[in-house]
Amino acid sequence: MLYTGTMTEDLFDILHNTATPPVYRYFSGGSWKESASGKTTSVYSPIDNSVVGILQVVTPKEIDDAIETACNAQREWEQTPLNQRVKIMHLVADWIRHNEQYLTDLLVMEIGKTASEAKSEIARTADLTDYFADEVQSIRGETLDSDNFPGYDKGRIAVIEHVAYGVVLSIAPFNYPVNLAASKIVPALLMGNSVVFKPPTQGGISGLHLARIFEKAGVPAGVLTCATGGGSQIGDYLVSHPKIDMIAFTGNSDTGLAIAAKAPMKQLLFECGGNNATIVFPDADMNLTVKEIVKGGFSYAGQRCTAIKYVLSTPGVLETLLPQVLETIKEMVAMGDPRQDSTKLVGPVISLATAKEIEEVILEAVKEGAVVVSGGHRRDAYIEPTILTKVKPSMNIVSKEVFGPVVSFIAVSDMDEAVRIVNSQRFGLQACVFTKDEGAGLKYAPLLNVGTVQINGSPQRGPDHFPFLGVKHSGVGVQGVRYSLEAMSRLKSVVINKPQ
Ligand code: G3P
Repeated sequence: MLYTGTMTEDLFDILHNTATPPVYRYFSGGSWKESASGKTTSVYSPIDNSVVGILQVVTPKEIDDAIETACNAQREWEQTPLNQRVKIMHLVADWIRHNEQYLTDLLVMEIGKTASEAKSEIARTADLTDYFADEVQSIRGETLDSDNFPGYDKGRIAVIEHVAYGVVLSIAPFNYPVNLAASKIVPALLMGNSVVFKPPTQGGISGLHLARIFEKAGVPAGVLTCATGGGSQIGDYLVSHPKIDMIAFTGNSDTGLAIAAKAPMKQLLFECGGNNATIVFPDADMNLTVKEIVKGGFSYAGQRCTAIKYVLSTPGVLETLLPQVLETIKEMVAMGDPRQDSTKLVGPVISLATAKEIEEVILEAVKEGAVVVSGGHRRDAYIEPTILTKVKPSMNIVSKEVFGPVVSFIAVSDMDEAVRIVNSQRFGLQACVFTKDEGAGLKYAPLLNVGTVQINGSPQRGPDHFPFLGVKHSGVGVQGVRYSLEAMSRLKSVVINKPQ
């Protein structure tokens, strides 16, 4: 079925031709263009495998042109008074809100999020954009006197400012194609960079809509480009381009490693995979723990890098926990078509191929001794909310990031063993600890080698002004409103040597 959301206006008409399904243009140098490549890639809805639209695959020459234009436009953009850049970003937020329903419907169709999750992504993006625009006004430089350092007198003063890197390549993932695009584009633009935006294939149509909103809000021609095409088609050329100064990427860790290898000496801001653990102390509030496990494990069908992937506790605690989790799944989760109000948390995963891969990993775990106590089956691109017990940390179901609605239960002899398991993983995004004794939680948290430890709450990125980071293969650098603004700029020092 072709996406037929109701348009409130003609704002987005320019994005595509009138064919069915529509072919989308790419955005470069301030215009919406047809690519000379003649190559396209179709966006299939995970709901029913229908074609939502067709993206063009841009050519290397088109990428060169876009980046050259971005380089030239950046100089003037950085000189544009900050108050004007701020005003434009507030307009972006307004335009996102104005088109909330339209963008929500599109997201549901394009990536299979439930309607409430999609709506929340759009609303969150508008709020985030406003917050960035407010926060940037408190980013300021400093001056340093030379005589603090031994052997120096007052002869010099350093004036230190935040300046742009230049051209930032922003690569967004399919799971938040609007929000995790804006979380890179907005701070990059506010700090005076120009941006080449590479949306995911699924989510690419939503990404183009976002680019249109930036254009409409007044981002000057050339400052933002939206280059479409599959990662395997245009990714290498983009990330290794000599005129890209910084890469901001969210996606899986293998892709992150491959990008880093091809982008020597470029600034990197990466948020990659996670297989986040839940550690349940015997004194935990079981009601709360159970609800957080179900929400944390199954929201957006487990396709969040912050999703809970495994639960660690002693056999006695797991015995109490498990029946309550199974009962709560029945209350909080209803797998189905994400367009229906009756569907709760679990719609399809992003594609049939991905669903088959997840099914394989579940079957492999079962072969290795794991037991499916709930779910475990696939229907087309839909994976039932699945709970596995008797899982070992070395099994792929735990040690790989399985981007689907699957949570594994692992029995440990004590909490020290739980720490060892978390710290032995390839990933280090978040972990959560449930205990009524917050003091014990605070003592325990530093032992876990992850970016963030949540005490009595499931892993999550928000609120979006909190720092968001991963260690090991989970990421490079820190995001979160202020942290992203700082990460998207470098320091520039001008030293005034006073006349002797
Ligand atoms: O990249 C982060 C995303 O996958 C999870 O974000 O807000 O669902 O915790 P959130």
